[in-house]
Amino acid sequence: MNGTSAKDPFAGFRVVAKRRESETITSFELAPPDEAQAPGFVPGQFLVVRLPTGNGHGPILRNYSISSSPHDSSRLRITVKREPPPADRADLPPGEGSNYLHEQVDVGDVIHVNGPRGDFQLDPDSTRPVVLLSGGVGLTPLVSMLHSLATVGDRRVYFIHACDSGRVHALKDEVLELAARRPGISTHFCYRFPTDEDIASAGFHSRGMISREVLQSILPLDDYDIYMCGPPAFMQANYRLLRGLGVPKERIRYEFFGPATVLDPDDVEPAVTQTEPSPSVQGEALQEEGVRVVFRKSGKTAVWDEKAKSLLDFAESLGIDAPFSCRAGVCSTCLSTLVRGEVEYFEEPLSEPGPGEVLLCCSRPKTTVEVDV
Ligand SMILES: Cc1cc2nc3c(=O)[nH]c(=O)nc-3n(C[C@H](O)[C@H](O)[C@H](O)COP(=O)(O)OP(=O)(O)OC[C@H]3O[C@@H](n4cnc5c(N)ncnc54)[C@H](O)[C@@H]3O)c2cc1C
Ligand code: FES
Repeated sequence: MNGTSAKDPFAGFRVVAKRRESETITSFELAPPDEAQAPGFVPGQFLVVRLPTGNGHGPILRNYSISSSPHDSSRLRITVKREPPPADRADLPPGEGSNYLHEQVDVGDVIHVNGPRGDFQLDPDSTRPVVLLSGGVGLTPLVSMLHSLATVGDRRVYFIHACDSGRVHALKDEVLELAARRPGISTHFCYRFPTDEDIASAGFHSRGMISREVLQSILPLDDYDIYMCGPPAFMQANYRLLRGLGVPKERIRYEFFGPATVLDPDDVEPAVTQTEPSPSVQGEALQEEGVRVVFRKSGKTAVWDEKAKSLLDFAESLGIDAPFSCRAGVCSTCLSTLVRGEVEYFEEPLSEPGPGEVLLCCSRPKTTVEVDV
């Protein structure tokens, strides 16, 4: 494998370091081709990685958040959890991309990446205190944010991380080193199943799940910017806790590492107006009630929720199973027919969809739309 070609939107980056961060998590430092500068990125963004697979169904695309400092222009780092089979289905194969990276990719190899992409981004203009709240490998974009916050400015920062135990706690020393760089950065580690070693070394602050009491004890009453990333159950539980503590929705930004999930059903307006198969939008009258989305195959029509990131996320929040892979406008897996209406792209697709087509993962409706999912 080698560098870029004129048409290939992926660039070959050389793996210059591979480091085991925990029992399940490994980092890969990637240097751009020809000793060029690494592309700039905003902390929180991710790379799309194209990986060959051994089973003949062609390359696969996976997203990995950049976990390194935006101030290091020589390389980008991704930090990857080896995905095992689901706990109740040991017969299934383990995660294809993450296991390929862990097992097959070594220092000196070249892997093909596109990006940076994504609008989960640290707001550089805000002066509010920042809470970086993560579960498991969801800490990766937040560590990049911590690099930035520890280097520039003097905002108060609370880095709160939950994981099973010290065995799977990645990037701990780096986070502690960043927190020690200047006053005003504090850390809290919550272990669900601390080991004897964790207990002997007092390497964590609380045990079990992050609770209302824990959050209340760490966070004085204030107006925070919250950035949150972790498994869906973690996100749902902590979103509820934060809302219960009075944090407004618009202060909570979050990233899912997979299909989007409704964080709090109580926050969702009763949007579905029709579950019968709908051949088309119900006349112009619906437009008067706001922008609507008609999912033709699923027979669902709903008022567009401005909080939804994309048409794909919106479909998933309604329980519609739409195909996707990269969630970043790269692979075209989410391509659907745009039966009517207009959309806008918040992430530029790698190749422009044809007339009457729409990429669901990176678009939002401009008018009432009807799509063929
Ligand atoms: C914006 C974004 C950022 C991300 N950042 C990171 C990051 O920084 N670090 C990170 O580690 N991950 C990150 N991810 C997740 C990452 O993109 C991958 O989804 C993850 O690595 C799993 O991919 P995989 O190919 O290993 O697993 P997959 O092959 O996609 O498999 C996923 C799971 O499905 C199981 N499975 C296999 N076959 C079947 C079957 N037939 N039926 C049911 N289940 C099956 C597998 O065992 C596995 O548990 C991010 C995702 C997004 C969207
Ligand atoms: S999921 Fe890849 S382009 Fe939409």
